[in-house]
Amino acid sequence: MIVFQDAYQNEVNLSFTKNPFSNKPKHVWVLCKLQNQWLLTNHRERGLEFPGGKVEDGETPEEAAIREVSEETGGKIKNLQYIGQYKVFGKGKTIVKNIYYAVIDELLPQSTYYETKGPVLLTTIPLVTIPKDRKYSFIMKDDVLRYSLAYVHQYIENK
Ligand code: GTP
Repeated sequence: MIVFQDAYQNEVNLSFTKNPFSNKPKHVWVLCKLQNQWLLTNHRERGLEFPGGKVEDGETPEEAAIREVSEETGGKIKNLQYIGQYKVFGKGKTIVKNIYYAVIDELLPQSTYYETKGPVLLTTIPLVTIPKDRKYSFIMKDDVLRYSLAYVHQYIENK
């Protein structure tokens, strides 16, 4: 398990094993790849981030991941792969979030992108500048992103 603090100084525990913190995580986060580009969304309040959100009642985390990617980007998932899970000890509450890697087939234009401004494609994720860049969401500003991209690079994309 890896331990660090997030952008708000909350403790974060991260692990790339199967369900280390909960079998029923209430949140999901999806690192999306469309051909050679990363697919993000632009959240109206938080800024640029990989899509994700809360698991609804009666939904599995995988179903939530597919739904959130579609709602926030229009991305149609060809392949969804669990990579890890993290726990944030927030001021008010503790949350557990599953991290997935998704290969996106195509972007289907949506009539609404809910609380986001829709899809954003990036050739590279600028890890060094994101922490100080106000365009990016706080959920992109801690080590979850860095470790997750390294995991994808090492175990998925270079397999
Ligand atoms: P509701 O009021 O129930 O809608 O939830 P909320 O608006 O309080 O937010 P949510 O349940 O999504 O998250 C609660 C807290 O957990 C947030 O205020 C953050 O501090 C933290 N949190 C949620 N997601 C992440 C994340 O991906 N990374 C980090 N570092 N913290 C997160």
